Amino acid sequence: MTTHSRPTTTDAGIPVASDELSLTVGPDGPIVLNDHYLIEQMANFNRERIPERQPHAKGGGAFGVFEVTQDVTAYTRAAAFRPGTRTDMLARFSTVAGERGSPDTWRDPRGFALKFYTSEGNFDLVCNNTPIFFMRDPMKFQHFIRSQKRRLSNNLRDHDMQWDFWTLSPESAHQVTWLMGDRGIPKDWRHMNGYSSHTYSWINAAGEIFWVKYHFLTDQGIEFLTQAEGDEMAGIDGDAHQRDLYSAIERGEHPSWTLKVQIMPFEEAKTYRFNPFDLTKVWPHGDYPLHEVGKMTLNRNVADYHTEMEQAAFEPNNLVPGTGLSPDKMLLARGFSYADAHRARLGVNYKQIPVNSPTVEVHAYSKDGEMRVRNAADPVYAPNSQGGPQADPSRVAEPLWYADGEMVRSAYTLRRDDDDWGQAGTMVRHVLDDAARDRLVSNIVGHLLKGVSEPVLVRAFEYWRNVDKDLGDRIEQGVRSQRSGTAPEAAEPGNPASPDTQART
Ligand code: NDP
Ligand code: HEM
Repeated sequence: MTTHSRPTTTDAGIPVASDELSLTVGPDGPIVLNDHYLIEQMANFNRERIPERQPHAKGGGAFGVFEVTQDVTAYTRAAAFRPGTRTDMLARFSTVAGERGSPDTWRDPRGFALKFYTSEGNFDLVCNNTPIFFMRDPMKFQHFIRSQKRRLSNNLRDHDMQWDFWTLSPESAHQVTWLMGDRGIPKDWRHMNGYSSHTYSWINAAGEIFWVKYHFLTDQGIEFLTQAEGDEMAGIDGDAHQRDLYSAIERGEHPSWTLKVQIMPFEEAKTYRFNPFDLTKVWPHGDYPLHEVGKMTLNRNVADYHTEMEQAAFEPNNLVPGTGLSPDKMLLARGFSYADAHRARLGVNYKQIPVNSPTVEVHAYSKDGEMRVRNAADPVYAPNSQGGPQADPSRVAEPLWYADGEMVRSAYTLRRDDDDWGQAGTMVRHVLDDAARDRLVSNIVGHLLKGVSEPVLVRAFEYWRNVDKDLGDRIEQGVRSQRSGTAPEAAEPGNPASPDTQART
């Protein structure tokens, strides 16, 4: 009999008799209940899947390092942003609407979630590859995500449902313009930017507060797939983006992103021409230029996808001293939502899973609960006279702002240049060139042709005319001519007009 240095064991470490044969009463007889190993194998298998994330279920990522290259201590006292500091980190990229097995190249925003294991605790920036979002009030987020997922009746994704929601939500126009444009299908995760989208806050050692937007700009350059290329890749390799990142890191090609920030002095927010906390707006670069901070490099693949990626829990409320939230209502709601999602999906002690554990010592009063595995010690209450942990305000630097008023359910107060269409129109007219505009028209026409009902279509044409009159006219002409069988001028460049190859966003 051969001996093995690594014999198979049960989960209790006991050597097992066979990897292949179950215990039976004679070779042809029934299986017995005391084959504990067979039962353990079957039982564990039945419990392998944990719930997937509600949005952003399909994704992957890698570990890396963030290095500060410039001095931003005038704006924040966060230790992780001190010049020369290197911080280990984790990144996870994802699509939003697709399920865990869905193709990487469906048209969708991409998640760009980062966790920095800093010397002052974990700092998470849960970003997307777009600098804006579809709405400005969190009440609408859940409804939006449902409109992107599957119908109750036929379990199919449904363009009518998507355009119904968008055209009844004019504040979505800027983000939908982005989504339907070239960056709506990145070539892969390495060739896209990440943006905080939200305005966050920083506070410096002197206690001065600044409003800040984070931009992680890809050092690989922006690259995208046309609709036809994305559709084709969805059939060839649904995991193309996961494969690309993993293979690049294995080859030693470590992708990097340069972190730049826009900074707005605290007082300027009160009088800026747009509401600077409205998530459907960017701050134009001309008003608030980018300041370089540092570089993040991904250099190590995960070794165990389940423990290091599927169980990774990112939360915008993980804010270290020197950093904070802002009056953005979406961000404030996100400050609650993520930790709640993790408690539901991973259990109350999800921060004890190694990938979510800080590298600093934890001195918390949280107690017990499912899967508490880290030993704690008395005392279990505060205040106490037993030498337990004590809050130390000198270590905390939390940007706080003044708020007062009656409790209301109301949209943000409009400023001089606040509207739903302006920045989307600027992108169409001034950022895109002719070829990119043609692809935008073509992508929208292709999307609208897939099962969108007449009343919703009419609203969609109006929606796009509000963004840009010429764009709306071209979209209506493209849809009408294709529906009546006339050759579509709008659908030619790079867009497959046949229904079976159109976007499934
Ligand atoms: P700028 O001309 O200074 O900036 C335009 C930015 O648009 C570029 O820097 C680039 O962002 C981004 N961009 C370029 N091509 C595309 C594309 N095909 N799809 C999406 N984005 C693209 O002008 P402003 O700052 O005044 O902004 C004008 C418009 O540009 C905005 O209304 C907004 O729609 C868009 N935009 C603005 C950003 C901002 O933070 N100010 C960021 C991104 C887009 P990047 O350098 O980040 O790749
Ligand atoms: C994932 C809620 C807006 C980026 C999630 C998850 C929830 C959620 C519940 C699943 C978390 C999990 O199970 O791990 C919300 C709410 C929003 C909102 C309530 C608005 C009110 C945004 C915005 C961004 C964003 C504006 C980007 C700027 C992400 C990313 C993930 C995610 C990147 C995936 C994180 C990961 O990789 O694990 N969101 N979200 N979300 N969200 Fe949001």
